[in-house]
Amino acid sequence: MFRTSDGVGRHVAHEVAALIRERNAAGKATVLGLPTGSTPVGVYRELIRLHREEGLDFSNVVTFNLDEYWPMKPDSLHSYNRWMRENFFNHVNVPEANIHIPRGDIGRIEVEEFCRQYEQAIVDAGGIDIQMLGIGRTGHIGFNEPGSSKSSRTRIINLDPVTRRDAASDFFGEENVPQRAITMGVGTILSARKVFVMALGEHKAKVIYKSLEGPETPEIVASFLQSHENVEFVLDAASAAQLT
Ligand code: F6R
Repeated sequence: MFRTSDGVGRHVAHEVAALIRERNAAGKATVLGLPTGSTPVGVYRELIRLHREEGLDFSNVVTFNLDEYWPMKPDSLHSYNRWMRENFFNHVNVPEANIHIPRGDIGRIEVEEFCRQYEQAIVDAGGIDIQMLGIGRTGHIGFNEPGSSKSSRTRIINLDPVTRRDAASDFFGEENVPQRAITMGVGTILSARKVFVMALGEHKAKVIYKSLEGPETPEIVASFLQSHENVEFVLDAASAAQLT
């Protein structure tokens, strides 16, 4: 547990950087699963600093983003694609060909095939080495809302009303928040070799308590992480406040 949000971001960034350096030295790729949102901003900021000041080299890093609203144009102000570029990719040297983000700009008929290909691309890359996650107030990881099965894979889902309400301020009103999104599944996330779950702020305290100390249940999807053998919850004091 870290007292500050800076501590959370730096810890995860340094773990990621250590793996990238180790893999680079061995001439091997590093595969990262990436979240958007307010929680990981400090991780990206620190990774950018390590790139600029310490020469951390991302040229052999492959990335898979967790989710994207659907429908959503990649250059829209609200897209996770644009968010990732502005907050991370524009500032480091991940090759464009190595960046994978679910596509919000495809038609409904194409979605299933796209999701199948997304799963296959993760397998072809050798699987995810480090999956970073934030957690929603519904207990979602990625956009796996309550009711998602533990074995679910990349698919289109309906967003929970709480999630849409939480996103409302980014969209100038809840009515503008898309109803749906494409997300990696719970099974996809659980297949990663290492998972970091980050949470910041007292509004996450209840869901962190339920995820860690409650039963494993599809009602709190993050509770499924209890059965992952290599998961680390990286919390600030406020989000950890209800843990016993
Ligand atoms: C975003 C994602 C979501 C967020 C979660 C927390 O790509 O997958 O699960 O991590 O909604 O969002 P913030 O960090 O904004 O509180």
